[in-house]
Amino acid sequence: MSEEHFKHVIAHAKEYGFVFPSSEIYDGLAAVYDYGQNGVELKKNIRDYWWKSMVQLNENIVGLDAAIFMSPSVWKTSGHVDGFNDPMIDNKDSKKRYRADVLLEEHQEKYRKKIQKEIAKASKRFGDDFDLDQFLATNPNVLRNQNKIDHISNEMREGLEQNDLERIRQLIIDEGIACPISGSKNWTEVRQFNLMYSTQMSATDGESEIYLRPETAQGIFVNYLNVQKTGRMRLPFGIAQTGKAFRNEIVARQFIMRMKEFEQMEMQFFVAPGDEMKWYEHWKAQRLQWHLNLGIDPERYRYHDHTKLAHYANAAVDIEYEFPFGFKEVEGIHSRTDFDLGQHQESTGKKIQYFDSERNESYVPYVVETSIGLDRMFLVLLSNSLKTEEVEGGTRTVLSLPPALAPFQCAILPLVKKDGLPEMARKIMDDLKFDFSCYYEEKDSIGKRYRRQDAIGTPVCITVDHESLENNDVTVRFRDSMEQKRVKIEELSTIVSIEVSMKELLKNL
Ligand code: GAP
Repeated sequence: MSEEHFKHVIAHAKEYGFVFPSSEIYDGLAAVYDYGQNGVELKKNIRDYWWKSMVQLNENIVGLDAAIFMSPSVWKTSGHVDGFNDPMIDNKDSKKRYRADVLLEEHQEKYRKKIQKEIAKASKRFGDDFDLDQFLATNPNVLRNQNKIDHISNEMREGLEQNDLERIRQLIIDEGIACPISGSKNWTEVRQFNLMYSTQMSATDGESEIYLRPETAQGIFVNYLNVQKTGRMRLPFGIAQTGKAFRNEIVARQFIMRMKEFEQMEMQFFVAPGDEMKWYEHWKAQRLQWHLNLGIDPERYRYHDHTKLAHYANAAVDIEYEFPFGFKEVEGIHSRTDFDLGQHQESTGKKIQYFDSERNESYVPYVVETSIGLDRMFLVLLSNSLKTEEVEGGTRTVLSLPPALAPFQCAILPLVKKDGLPEMARKIMDDLKFDFSCYYEEKDSIGKRYRRQDAIGTPVCITVDHESLENNDVTVRFRDSMEQKRVKIEELSTIVSIEVSMKELLKNL
């Protein structure tokens, strides 16, 4: 997938009402986006697919919708006030600010590209005899570049772990990293910036500082007792939540990949101490399957185990997707131990424990978390589905979304705007709209209307023509195959429901 393709995705998202820059008529707001008429439907369907797979299909997972505002003490206790930071560095000439770790990661990418070039050259030279493993283990250029990559990873990990920011700066200088804007290597020191937004909340005794949540997870932790008791939940059980999170990301990049306001879909799974690794492996496999079930090429997915673990975790892995700018995290699975509940227990003095009748003991449950960014998943689907295809008489742009997630499930199109065809099409629409999201359109030639539906990913088009009036049948056209067939009107509901079935999607999980 090329940079060109990514530009096409961004342009398409705007042109077809999926994603708009926020406050665009005021020249936009960096790293903030709005979802348009088609985007909001796709986003809702991805959320539904996640929610159903979690809450509806698992008897022991229940939902929650906690408020965005929470007591500021929550964020002190969770470690976010003191530790939710990014290391930033400024270039003194361009006055641009960068994330120091991102500058280094991008620099590593240059070494990776050099390795890829060596591989391409050698595989061309040796043809069928090319042995990739042997080449990677012995070629001096590859080894030199790999050593560089490893050296940066090690230095970065140790520097960040020990909060030795001078070491990070030195690494940037030693690697000769220049500012992409000014080209200069004139860097400030590295400083930590907290990512949480805060605002003021009025109360009778004055104003207090309050944070916009940077993750939805804490809303689940502080409601653990409420849900466990009122739902009479037995371990292991999970609490799922979707909702907005806010982070003051200084470096706005890559469209909806890194935003200041975004949506998370998180599930905290509470387990007995000692069982967490079993459940960690379970959710790691389940979550990848959820992605692959959408028909996305498995080659585009990989696991990335964390070598540097957050203070609360004893294991963590990212599910990464290969975007045009490389493999990037879409979802994280974290074994969070008893850290969060334990901290809240200590901080509030309230007993946050579970009585395990089998073990005959009380303990603070351990947690395995699955956390996926809805916007990133949206970008995965757009990038993966947008295609330009050669067709008879030219090309077509088609968004081959999983049919169950498409913004509109069917489009109803009277061939002409007269002779009673619109009336008949409306009648069909008035029946189907209770079960499916339907798009009605009567303007332009039928060919143009098919192309527009292809471009927004509508899996089924239903065309009403003059014969329909006589025979009570219509033409059904399928998005991906472009196959057309004649069917009776009373069959439509069944045909569309088979084509766009969320049930079939969920059954494959
Ligand atoms: N509760 C754990 C947690 O928040 P995280 O890795 O910081 O973990 C989870 O975030 C997911 O949220 C990421 O995998 C990513 O998909 C999404 N995410 C994080 N920051 C984001 C941002 N600035 N813009 C869009 N999505 C983001």
